[in-house]
Amino acid sequence: MSQSRRRIAINTGGGDAPGLNAVIRSIVLSSLGRGWEVLGIRKGYEGLLDTSKIMQLDRDSVRGITHLGGTILGTTNRSNPFEYPIKLPDSEPQLVDRSSELVENFNRLQIDALIAIGGDGSMSIANRLAKMGIPIVGVPKTIDNDLSGTVVTFGFDTAVTVATEAIDRLHSTAEAHERVFVVELMGRYAGWIALNSGVSATADVVLIPEIPFDISAVCDKIMDREAHGRRFSIVVVAEGARPIDGQMVATDQGAGREVRLGGIGHQVANEVQERTGKETRTVVLGHLQRGGSPTTFDRLLALRFGAAAVRTVAKETFGVMVALDPPNVLTVPLKVATERMKCVPLDSDTILTARDLGICLGDSEGET
Ligand code: F6P
Repeated sequence: MSQSRRRIAINTGGGDAPGLNAVIRSIVLSSLGRGWEVLGIRKGYEGLLDTSKIMQLDRDSVRGITHLGGTILGTTNRSNPFEYPIKLPDSEPQLVDRSSELVENFNRLQIDALIAIGGDGSMSIANRLAKMGIPIVGVPKTIDNDLSGTVVTFGFDTAVTVATEAIDRLHSTAEAHERVFVVELMGRYAGWIALNSGVSATADVVLIPEIPFDISAVCDKIMDREAHGRRFSIVVVAEGARPIDGQMVATDQGAGREVRLGGIGHQVANEVQERTGKETRTVVLGHLQRGGSPTTFDRLLALRFGAAAVRTVAKETFGVMVALDPPNVLTVPLKVATERMKCVPLDSDTILTARDLGICLGDSEGET
């Protein structure tokens, strides 16, 4: 790799998260400042399979985007080059391994390094590509905060802020109508968004995947409030939560796609209404948690991650992901970041706080 002029490439993969544009800007400006050239690969790893999707990034391309949601590079959660979905006429979609083609294109374009911005799926692909010789640095993003190796990912704070505001707003209408509101939040197999926003917005019940719930405990909590004159309740349910005797609720899954979670909110609401006789409504917050401007925390974290990724490329350290270990941004091997999902530890301070505040977590622990 020539020290003077380098050609680096960036992609954004998986579900979008507020802060992606901030990290792109940070990478582009930090690279241009070093006299490097920056290529933007559109739609995750897709642009390295179809190189017409590659664009040159200059100062103008990243002007005024720090505060914008989404990603100027586009993204997809269906472009895993190791399991790429193809559809031949008159047959079911099949998954094929196109990783060697990707490596060939990367070398042909004479790219010196790839900065891959993404969640667990994108970091696992990055780890495998690193083993195939691609000089790669990962940048962790996901609203779910489920990536190991970093204390937090950007996008998470924005999602929690949006969810907290939504739950805050439900309190008044719930109280006015003496109803139960069940709010289903994203987070996949981890309960970070539900727990942090539920505790912050004083929900009465918070159900997360890490603690399978007993619907009787949920209904007891609602009826106990009723007995104390609190004739409304807010139940926050992570999309990955499941009853002790049941499964997570998922919708469809096409070839090369992740399982889509969702539906547990309605299930909980139906059971609560049936068992308590209380009028119950469901709100599924969905992609509102991912849309719009990043919070200040997420912007700054994204900018810090972007600049740190470029410094990592400058040092020629590859096969790693930048990570937050407050107050520092450091790097961890991609292997460490991807070997296990980061779920909420059951002894975490936030869980203990929820219990001390009398919030029902759907189990019998914490009952007085
Ligand atoms: O991983 C981020 C996330 O928003 C999850 O919380 C959610 O389960 C999933 O993506 C939704 O994916 P899609 O955008 O494909 O519906």
